[in-house]
Parts: sequence; C-alpha cells; structure tokens
Amino acid sequence: MSDPYRWDERVEAWEEVAATESFLAIRDRIVELAQPRIDDYAVDLGAGTGLLALAIAPRVRELVAVDISEQMLARLDDAAAADGIHNVEPVVADLRRLPLEDESATLVVSNYAFHHLDDPGKELALAEARRILRPGGRLVICDMMFAISLAPRDRRLVWEKVTALLRRGPAGAVRILRNAVRLAAGRWEQPAPPTTWEEMLVARGFEQVRIELLAHEAAVAVARRPQVRSEAARARAGRAGASGS
Ligand SMILES: C[S@@+](CC[C@H](N)C(=O)[O-])C[C@H]1O[C@@H](n2cnc3c(N)ncnc32)[C@H](O)[C@@H]1O
Repeated sequence: MSDPYRWDERVEAWEEVAATESFLAIRDRIVELAQPRIDDYAVDLGAGTGLLALAIAPRVRELVAVDISEQMLARLDDAAAADGIHNVEPVVADLRRLPLEDESATLVVSNYAFHHLDDPGKELALAEARRILRPGGRLVICDMMFAISLAPRDRRLVWEKVTALLRRGPAGAVRILRNAVRLAAGRWEQPAPPTTWEEMLVARGFEQVRIELLAHEAAVAVARRPQVRSEAARARAGRAGASGS
C-alpha cells in the first residue's frame, strides 16, 4: 500500500508528539464530543499508535483501528495488550477504501489524519465514513483546519507558527525555509479550512454538522449520518428495487 509520508518510519517521532499536553487536551475534547457508549461499534480512522483509540476502546463494545501503517498499528496493538484492552481490531487500510461492512459502525472518530489526504481524498474518506456508519451514527473528526490565506485566523496561525520556529534560532529558520520549499513544491500537508470541512460534510450527506475551533490550528467537526433516509435516497432505493423486480 502506497504511503508517501512513510509512517512506518515515524512511529517513535509521532509518539513523542502524541504525548504532548496539546495532543492530550485534543484527545480529551474529542472523547467528550464523541460521547462513547458501551454499545457502540467504533472506528478510528488513521489511528496511529492509539492516542484516541485507546481512550475510546474501554468505553465501547468494539473498536476498529484503521491505519495505512503496519508499524503504527503494531505499536497500538502492543499498547492495548499492555493496558489490558482486548476489544481493538487493527486493520491496515487506506482511509479512501475501507475494508469494512456498510452500516457496521455507530461511531467514527479520527484525529490528525485527514490533512494527509488531498481534498478529493478527504471526500472519498468521508463517503467511506458515511457508508460504514449506521443511520443516526456519529462522526467526530479532529484535524488541523486552516488554509494559507489572508483570512484573520489563517494569518494569525501562520504568524504563530513562524514566530514559534524563529524562537528556536537557526534550526527554526532552517525549518521555515524547508517548509517554504515544501509548500512551493506542493509537498505540504493538505489541511482544509473549517468552511471547506462544513461544505464537504453537508455534500456527503451528513447532518447536524458543526465545527468547534480548538487551540492553534486544530478544530473538530461533529456530524451525524441522518437517522432516516432522505426523500431522494428513498426514491433512488425505490427505483432500484422496481428495476430489480
Ligand atoms: C499524525 S498521525 C495521527 C495518529 C493518531 N490519530 C493520533 O491522534 O495519534 C496520522 C496517522 O494517519 C495515518 N494515515 C495517513 N494517511 C493515511 C491513509 N491514507 N489511510 C490510512 N491512514 C493514514 C498515518 O499512518 C498516521 O498513523
């Protein structure tokens, strides 16, 4: 499976980031918003080494941890065993094509994975999330949500990043240059701003969509798969049934 970011080689580095106060706070907010229940079938998209998955698993019936990186999931599996958590199933897969049954989940969560997909990739992954959710199922996705733009929040975020790096001295300045080159070469991470997230979720047929801004560039999108099929979906299903009979 193609992984341009080579996540298999970044397990240790990511674990350090995931253990920071900022990420622990993000995790806690996602869990609050997700309101996991003991009868939930949960899926964590881009689960990594388990920051979110291992906080949710003890509160639900079952959790499928999906990630493109075998090594990330191997670490998650070890951590689950060490914590005595036995209801996690690691699945190596691309978020854009989930090997999971239709309507098999009641809760889909994700943290800091979607900005590794371009916008069409995000749309595919959201379509997959909707497909695997049962009607009424909940979706809670946290990601970096901003754009390089002149909008006040975007300008503030870029400025915060630049000044934080500059405070690190020459190493920080080199990092800024490297990021500028990556940006110019189109090898930048691909976050979408909150407005795009809202549009994508509505376009993919989610309802009760809302976005909560968190610290720095993070934000969480909360939505639901509609409880009942829309009129159009019922008509489509009716036509398909009639043509099949
Ligand atoms: C920044 S880490 C976040 C991990 C975890 N969600 C957490 O909060 O600690 C991003 C994760 O997304 C995974 N990932 C990136 N692109 C993916 C894709 N197309 N399909 C599945 N997983 C992907 C990476 O392997 C990595 O584990």
